[in-house]
Amino acid sequence: MREKTRLLGLFMVSYRARGQVSFGPSLKNCDMPHSNFDILKWYAEIGVDAVLNTDPIDRYSAVASKTGPSAQAQKSKAPDQPAPASSPFLVPETGPSAAELAAQCQNLSELREAIDSFEGCVLKQTAKNTVFADGNPEADVMFIGEAPGRDEDIQGLPFVGQAGKLLDQMINAIGRDRESVYISNILNWRPPGNRTPTPQEALTCLPFIRRHIQLVDPQVIVLLGGTSAKHLLATKTGIMRLRGRWANVKLDDDGNQTITALPTLHPAYLLRQPAHKRLAWQDFLNLKQRLSELAS
Ligand code: URA
Repeated sequence: MREKTRLLGLFMVSYRARGQVSFGPSLKNCDMPHSNFDILKWYAEIGVDAVLNTDPIDRYSAVASKTGPSAQAQKSKAPDQPAPASSPFLVPETGPSAAELAAQCQNLSELREAIDSFEGCVLKQTAKNTVFADGNPEADVMFIGEAPGRDEDIQGLPFVGQAGKLLDQMINAIGRDRESVYISNILNWRPPGNRTPTPQEALTCLPFIRRHIQLVDPQVIVLLGGTSAKHLLATKTGIMRLRGRWANVKLDDDGNQTITALPTLHPAYLLRQPAHKRLAWQDFLNLKQRLSELAS
């Protein structure tokens, strides 16, 4: 029982304090006792599938000591001090920003290295791999998703899980394959439990995907799903209204460089809502036509 409590505490403390648990199916109403296996199964069902630490962390006392009177006094003395290295919080380390790093990259391998060395995104701390891209960097079309999921994190490649299989089928349906398109994501690290990336995480990493698009220099980009569309188009409009309409994505802050983009539905969404595949099919036909016009 002690072990079970410790196990529960380990996960709950790791996730609750970070506001990342959505309490889906509940153990609360089940008859006790539960085996460790039941508990782990329950966590897997609600999307908690990664162990972040080997020991539980009491984040409540950490919050208290950070916000207590002596912490406040210290803060007013040294407002710009970064959190100590031993901080139990998952805070990004200070260092060059994504914009600074991205601006220095003259080719894709430099960009890959720059992203790999970046310590400013909290997602990197829980990801297994940096997921950069797949496909042909010479392609005329670049597909941009949201962030790696579990399979992508394990393999280090974008869109290799169930959603990726559907994306491959959609690409094949317009006469292409991974050798004739290029694929990446707006985020290079998997959010724990596949949660939606926060706006802060997406904005922190945005310079990387913008530079990525500049270096690949495709004719058009396809924005897969609401998160990709929202952040690259800098809009709050939902994907259902954006999809199927060509738009311009700014690749620099002053908007001097833009690229034509087609927002469409994310394959993971289509797996949950297969009735909407017909909308995505319209968008892909639209894409096929635009690509053949550009080629002629
Ligand atoms: N979903 C995404 O948005 N990207 C991936 O790479 C995989 C799933």
